[in-house]
Amino acid sequence: MAYDGPRIDLSDRVDDRAETDHEFRLHRSIFEDEDIFDAEMEFCFEKLWNFLCHDSQVPNTGDYYATHIGSQPVFVHRQEDGSVKAFINACSHRGAIITPFKQGNAKTLTCRFHAWSYKCSGECIGIKNEEGGYGTDFDRSQYNLTEIAEIGEYRGFIFGALTDEVPTLDEHLGESKFFIDLFADQSPDGLEMVKGSQTYVCDHDWKVQADNVTDGYHVSTVHRNFMHTIQAREAREGADGLMKTEVGRIKGDVKNGMYYLGNGHMCIWADRSSPEGAPLAPATAYIEKNFDAIKAHWMLRRGRNIIIFPNLVLNDLASTHLRTHRPLAPGKCEVTIWCIAPKGEPDDARFARLRKFEDFFLVSGLSTSDDVVSLDTAQEGFYGSEAGWNNYDRGLSTMKAGPDEEAKKAGINPELHCASWDYEAAFVGWYRNWRKLVEEGTRDAEKPAVAAE
Ligand code: FES
Ligand SMILES: [Fe+2]
Repeated sequence: MAYDGPRIDLSDRVDDRAETDHEFRLHRSIFEDEDIFDAEMEFCFEKLWNFLCHDSQVPNTGDYYATHIGSQPVFVHRQEDGSVKAFINACSHRGAIITPFKQGNAKTLTCRFHAWSYKCSGECIGIKNEEGGYGTDFDRSQYNLTEIAEIGEYRGFIFGALTDEVPTLDEHLGESKFFIDLFADQSPDGLEMVKGSQTYVCDHDWKVQADNVTDGYHVSTVHRNFMHTIQAREAREGADGLMKTEVGRIKGDVKNGMYYLGNGHMCIWADRSSPEGAPLAPATAYIEKNFDAIKAHWMLRRGRNIIIFPNLVLNDLASTHLRTHRPLAPGKCEVTIWCIAPKGEPDDARFARLRKFEDFFLVSGLSTSDDVVSLDTAQEGFYGSEAGWNNYDRGLSTMKAGPDEEAKKAGINPELHCASWDYEAAFVGWYRNWRKLVEEGTRDAEKPAVAAE
């Protein structure tokens, strides 16, 4: 889409005095404003790299996976030479979505509407009743599917961009690559998306969904019910080894931290209180043999939650999951979640990983539902914008530029860090990046700036 709203100046909606006064506030209207939403769709999604799918979702020639970049439906298609291409998911005739399912295999795609057909290269190869229905100057080659401008892969994670005016994928991912590697290196055979996923629509803005990923502060309240339920269950039934669910992290009594990594990527981490229950525990010997002690510690004994801007979440805590979020409207977004796991892991490890994935996550789990309700009620409160501002001051007196000791040891260089995973410094970096994208993206708009509310 081409943004045609007003120039947006957020100076009276972002109160950024983080370094000077340890104050960072956001006006609640940013979570329900139509112009801001339109600008976000273009400048935070459609003009950037987006995560599309994992290569294990399209392993064979003809495998496709349908998703979105912002408002644009797109799909990834594995080519005959093993490469992947991605296309706008719209038939060249009259626009119908061309993939029959969200995910499947088809070397030729035939449109459900009037049966035009396309090779997996996007070439239009068939037009029903072409002869006689169209003039002699009809040129079928004008009707190939529209390929998107950029597609790239990092360690099995496939990203795409609608424009070639993006930095390289390597530049975009920047410091987040360290955290992707912590996943990708878990098995010599790579990772797989475990079959099955859930998609749910939330009555809250995508930014709230995104910042929940690194909001350690909510965990001990919103997930207290989870913690008590698990503790009671383990006391009643017993749970050892891989089946043990750690609760020390939720209580916050382990070493932890928070980073803003740059380019909108951010992360929280915490050491595991019971590493023997970590999903990767059975691979300890392999990990310790193949990686240095610091990386092995991050992989085996330190849980992590990371968001790769704008739409990818990687979570390695009690279980492991990959999640995407998609804005639908101001105050509305769609979330999809999968369990992602090392290929070839032992059955008992996969069993424990899946049971813990179900326990905490999924809409039927004990925690995702609590998150969604909390975020939905926050969105409801945002409509009371007369009350003004959200506060993100927590721990800002400890916010510092650059790496902390743990990041230095790992060789990563966050732009910001703070002393605890339940502080809010990463949000300062995240919302500064968001503000820059929205303001710079709309700078050339001809209409006047949005008036302050
Ligand atoms: S819309 Fe696809 S063939 Fe008509
Ligand atoms: Fe949560």
